[in-house]
Amino acid sequence: MRDTRSIRELIACQRSGCSLEQRFYTDPEIYALELECIVMRNWIFTGHQSQLAEVGDYLVLNVAGESAIVVRSKQGGIKAFANVCRHRGSIVCLGKSGNKRKFECPYHGWMYDTDGNLIAARNMPEDFDRTSYGLHKVPVEIVHGLIFICFCDAPPSIEGARRDMAEPLAMFDFENLKVAAQKTYPISANWKLAVENYQECYHCAVAHPEYAKMHTLMLEGKRRQLIQSHMLENMGACGLKTIEIDYIDTKARPGETGFGYSRSALFEGYKTGSKDGQPVAPLLGNLTGYDGGASDITFGPFSFFLAYSDHVVGYVFTPVDAKNCQCRIYWLVRGDAVEGKDYDRDELMWLWDVTTCADKIIIVNNWKGINSKYYQPGPFSGMEKEEQRFVDWVLQELRRAPQYPS
Ligand code: FES
Ligand SMILES: [Fe+2]
Repeated sequence: MRDTRSIRELIACQRSGCSLEQRFYTDPEIYALELECIVMRNWIFTGHQSQLAEVGDYLVLNVAGESAIVVRSKQGGIKAFANVCRHRGSIVCLGKSGNKRKFECPYHGWMYDTDGNLIAARNMPEDFDRTSYGLHKVPVEIVHGLIFICFCDAPPSIEGARRDMAEPLAMFDFENLKVAAQKTYPISANWKLAVENYQECYHCAVAHPEYAKMHTLMLEGKRRQLIQSHMLENMGACGLKTIEIDYIDTKARPGETGFGYSRSALFEGYKTGSKDGQPVAPLLGNLTGYDGGASDITFGPFSFFLAYSDHVVGYVFTPVDAKNCQCRIYWLVRGDAVEGKDYDRDELMWLWDVTTCADKIIIVNNWKGINSKYYQPGPFSGMEKEEQRFVDWVLQELRRAPQYPS
């Protein structure tokens, strides 16, 4: 029988402690609301500033129906513009990244500079004022080397994250990292399933034998405490401070983007997330040794980082449409590391490539089952607390939407 409840009723009926009702994944009206009040209203990691070192270096970020050009402008700063021509609306830049001094629209050839100004438009009337037809600006922020953009004119403040994350990120010298490898994983599933899957490690023991061998997140009780306390004892000698920050999801301060930092131990014998546990790149920042830990870092609802002592892995989950999303992964090493000498791309990528390929399969299986008429929300385990919090946050944001339907 068709579920005729309004979105308000559906949210009110959602049982805490259980996965979301089917329509939160399948209802086009809810997806449209999510786009407006969640996806387009939050900061999304777009790359590292080292990728835009020279004037004209650019990246294109596509999220749901929107596209932005992020570019090192001739004035020196990093700017972002809507990738939409001011003539008749064509996408201006079809590439994904590269270097351009001018962005020429492929439709009728209008030309924009790296500051988004319209610099050429053929055969326009004499009174045509080019200065009124620059590309629309998109908010962009650089936070300790990380580039974030937000597709809305009044984004949440990222200042709290910039201030409070300065100390933990400085330990790994985030400002001076470089992207050693990058890969995009298309996933045929609603975007929330990909974020939820990243948030919980209940599935890790089943789906990720490689990860489960080295990360202790799926352990509970005394055994984890013991390994964790061993790492905490080692941290000082390796140049790491004990820092815990939790303003994630429902704990975010009002008007601010959420963020968080914590460090978890790897199993004994693992210095980093690699096949044999041995380093795959030089130590980051001013670290002086391997404490056997990895730091979980969160910025907003879509962007996550895992900082080992020798490399950082960044994960970004964004919707493509209601039924498809993508995961972009970045492998970052210290800025002066040399490929072939200090690191090998395949070795660096191995763990999170194999883990993300496995995740992709389980997320799609999850999506298929959720679309069945037999799907019912099921109870969360004790290892799905972060997922519960994310789900609570999504519901909270939907409730806050100004256009929230009655
Ligand atoms: S739509 Fe871009 S030049 Fe016409
Ligand atoms: Fe996973």
